[in-house]
Amino acid sequence: MFAGPVDFVKGVVAMSGLPPADRVEVCFAGRSNVGKSSLINALTGRKNLARASNTPGRTQEINFFSLGEARYVVDLPGYGFAEAPVATVRKWQELLKQYLQGRQTLRRAFVLIDSRHGVKSVDEEIMTLLDKSAVTFQVVMTKMDKLARPEREKNLDQTRAALAKHPAAYPEIVMTSSEKGDGIETLRAIIAGLE
Ligand code: GTP
Ligand code: MG
Repeated sequence: MFAGPVDFVKGVVAMSGLPPADRVEVCFAGRSNVGKSSLINALTGRKNLARASNTPGRTQEINFFSLGEARYVVDLPGYGFAEAPVATVRKWQELLKQYLQGRQTLRRAFVLIDSRHGVKSVDEEIMTLLDKSAVTFQVVMTKMDKLARPEREKNLDQTRAALAKHPAAYPEIVMTSSEKGDGIETLRAIIAGLE
């Protein structure tokens, strides 16, 4: 599906470190522990490509991965991790803002929402930032395998209601399980289809 190498490219801690903006780019944003790194592993079929861990706040850089020669997928630092030092959180937030507002080739942000928890206030904040940055975003509900159907429907409804308030939101929600593989092919096709 993605012609060319799938690999880790680099981790970036400042805008000056970004790789050349020469291809279609998508990013994954979401609270710490929501499953961003796991989803990148599932998408690429490479189990340990993006580090996934139980320790929230593990991914502290903007990590670039190539999906073939024509695409980058970007793993953003998780937000809403209360135990990180204030100065660290501020630094992440500033970099995140600069990245979202300044990256010309960023075609879509995927905002990951834990299907058990639904949209929280920190998710609202990032969605508002994406509205302001005019970056189209699409919600991915993660960890579907952890939920029974009635709860799924309830949280999906809550999420849809939250999206209705955001002009940059793409209406279709993708439901995934990195563990079981649900929704992974759908997400690949969405990314492959962006130009
Ligand atoms: P940060 O890098 O800290 O922001 O976290 P992250 O969003 O990258 O989360 P990560 O992928 O590290 O996953 C956090 C935890 O959730 C890990 O223990 C994963 O194994 C688990 N997890 C991720 N996706 C799924 C899923 O689809 N199903 C289940 N059951 N567990 C998952
Ligand atoms: Mg991570």
